[in-house]
Parts: sequence; C-alpha cells; structure tokens
Amino acid sequence: MAEVVIVKNSRAAGELVADAILSLVASKKNAVLGLATGSTPLPVYQALAERAVGTDFSQVSGFALDEYVGLPASHPESYRSVITREVVEPVGLVPERIRVPNGATETIETAGADYERAIEEAGGVDLQILGIGTDGHIGFNEPGSSFASLTRVKTLTERTRADNARFFDSPDDVPMHCITQGLGTILRARHLVLLAFGEGKADAVAAAIEGPLASILPGSAVQLHPHATIVLDEAAASKL
Ligand code: GLP
Repeated sequence: MAEVVIVKNSRAAGELVADAILSLVASKKNAVLGLATGSTPLPVYQALAERAVGTDFSQVSGFALDEYVGLPASHPESYRSVITREVVEPVGLVPERIRVPNGATETIETAGADYERAIEEAGGVDLQILGIGTDGHIGFNEPGSSFASLTRVKTLTERTRADNARFFDSPDDVPMHCITQGLGTILRARHLVLLAFGEGKADAVAAAIEGPLASILPGSAVQLHPHATIVLDEAAASKL
C-alpha cells in the first residue's frame, strides 16, 4: 500500500525526505541507505547536507541503484562519480561505505551477484530513495523487467538514452548498457521513498500508483511494497 504525499515544490519534498533519513540515522547508527541518481533526488541530498550538521554518519552505509556498463568509474557521468559528487561529499558520508554496482566490463559477469551479496551482508537497505523515468523505469529497470529480478545487466531503451543524453557531450556517448538493482532487489528494502516532480512525470506516476501491476510498468512494483511513500509536487500528481 503506497502512501501519497503531495507537497508544494521539490524543495519541500527534499526537506521531508531528508528529515526521514535523519530520524532513521538517529534511531539506527548503522542505517543502510539506498541512493538514487538523476535530478529528482537532488533536493533530498541538498536538504540533507544543510540539515545534517553534527549528524554521525560514520557507521551509515549506502548502495546506489545502478551504474553504466563500460564507462570508467572516473568519468564525470559514471554514477560512481555522480554519487560521490552529489551525495557523499556534500552530506559527509564515508566514501568507503558507499557502494555502486561495478560497471567494469572485465568483471561484469559476477558483478550482479557480488552486489546482491554486499547488500545482504550489510543487513539490507533501510530506506530506498527512488526516482522514476518518463517511461516508468525505476533504477534502470526498463519496461518488461521482471518484478522478481535481481541486480543484473540491462540494455537501455532509446528513450532513456535520449533522456540522459543531456549529461553527455553527444547522444552517442550515452552507454548502451547498465547494471541495475532489480525490481526484486528494490522491493526488499524496508521503506521505499519514490519522488517525482513536474508534468513530464505525471503519466509514469499515475501508471505506477494506479495502473495495473505489469512488468511493462516497472514503477507499478511499488504497489507490492508494504511501506512505500510517494512524494510528488502537484504537477507530477496531476494525473492521479
Ligand atoms: C535515470 C536513473 C533513474 C532515475 C531516472 C529519472 O535513468 N537511472 O534512477 O530515476 O533517470 O531521472 P530524473 O530524476 O533526472 O528525471
């Protein structure tokens, strides 16, 4: 059952979710955070950076949802770089405690299972932050992804590559493949917090929350979760 919270703007959403993270960390020093990339979670990380002064993150760990395959970790648009730049450094998380799926081609065959093991060994994710793609993908689970899927390599759709082309010099530079936590992995997190802002997300949000459960609508997997919070601005909620 998903709880839907409609807020005034993305800043208010960021503050709300940052406060939820801070109260989690206050009650559980070794909390495990599920981190997402994209523009949507940025207000959360900004609010967290502002409000976390004095918070002890020394035992907090984090797992990113996904990574491009074949992009060097040092590339500014690798999700390793993005997570470091946008979350780890501003918030003051411990870099060694933050994992991102390993997109190196040499080890790609075992990278998915390795990542699943690491999440399990950390005790599972307490709070998973999620955005949603315009085609309804979460993480990089594109339409057609199994609800039971675990971390694995996927091919990006043309639409997602086009959406993400803004981060690269040329659309052709957007990698073709990614490694992403599966929908099954994401559903194991104890609390899901999905954020969406703007009219461009309204269809994906309506399908995720009110549409039928269908692998063609990966976001609809959140309906299976016992503790999911959906934080929207009015535009993203306009088709509910
Ligand atoms: C990417 C990420 C997703 C994210 C989505 C939406 O494809 N892999 O995790 O939710 O984009 O991005 P944005 O928040 O920038 O709209």
